[in-house]
Amino acid sequence: MASTRIWSIGSGKGGVGKSFVASSLGVSLSRMNQRTLLIDFDLSGPNLHTALGEPPARKNIDHFLSDQASLSELIQTTQFSNLFFIQGTTNPGDRKISDVQRLVAEARRLPFNEIIFDLGPGSQETYLETLRHSDEKLFIVTPEPPCIEKNYRLIENLLLYTIKVLNFDKINVPLKPVLEQYREAHLPGTTTFRDHLKSATGWTWDQETEIFPNPIRIIVNQVRGDKDLDLGPSIRLVCKHFFSLKIDYSGSLYFDNAVWQSFRTVEPMLMKYPFSPLAGQFQAMARKLLTSDLHSQSLRAVV
Ligand SMILES: Nc1ncnc2c1ncn2[C@@H]1O[C@H](COP(=O)(O)OP(=O)(O)OP(=O)(O)O)[C@@H](O)[C@H]1O
Ligand SMILES: [Mg+2]
Repeated sequence: MASTRIWSIGSGKGGVGKSFVASSLGVSLSRMNQRTLLIDFDLSGPNLHTALGEPPARKNIDHFLSDQASLSELIQTTQFSNLFFIQGTTNPGDRKISDVQRLVAEARRLPFNEIIFDLGPGSQETYLETLRHSDEKLFIVTPEPPCIEKNYRLIENLLLYTIKVLNFDKINVPLKPVLEQYREAHLPGTTTFRDHLKSATGWTWDQETEIFPNPIRIIVNQVRGDKDLDLGPSIRLVCKHFFSLKIDYSGSLYFDNAVWQSFRTVEPMLMKYPFSPLAGQFQAMARKLLTSDLHSQSLRAVV
């Protein structure tokens, strides 16, 4: 089997549609003949099974994290022939970075084409570490200022975290104050964070260094009008001006009562309302994402 692609679905904010997107992406990829595994890694309250239309499984990711089971023993079948899932845990526990590393390494050894992690909201280190190991990072943003702000924070946190991990033997100053200093001192577009970091830390940052091999991808969910469609491109522009960071705007999904109705009856939206405009919108986006290897060549994230 060709190498496994790992996806993570995250957001700075809760309740924005991560599990809806993760489950629908899983269904879409499995229908495109990709053997797909969904892993509920929301440590603050798992709900992927509901979006997927499955009852909660007794064995869950906690059994792997606490060494009681291998990952393959936790895999559940779903009503879709190519789609499998691993139940999340209601026990947040004291998760360490090494737990995540073990989880991702074992996941990569499983016989799947696509593995999708549905993360919880925010920037806790376990999520940043999962994102760091993921080939594709999808952030879900809704068109409301608190959600937009929290997603900028998530992008910043992932950037700082990744720089720290990649270079921890070279930079020995805490990066967060450097970022705050940058934010206070500069107008957008005058100096990038990269240049500021160079002068503040003396780090010789190679212009060509790729922080993220593929760009972070933004999905704008729960769009209610044409004006909301500007949000994706504007986030992309801000990230370019501040961080020289390339963001892929993957698409917008309209607010559609089909989603919460399918949640309420515990049926996947793509199954219950396959001919809804949102279902069509989603499938088109999934097709584009599946071929992202091709178009990401020209969208390298270089900071
Ligand atoms: N495009 C949409 N249109 C209408 N309702 C939506 C849409 N996307 C999500 N919702 C609704 O928003 C709620 C939250 O969705 P979901 O559980 O997928 O979010 P989440 O980000 O995974 O939440 P949590 O952070 O709690 O895990 C659900 O009730 C769902 O029906
Ligand atoms: Mg969720």
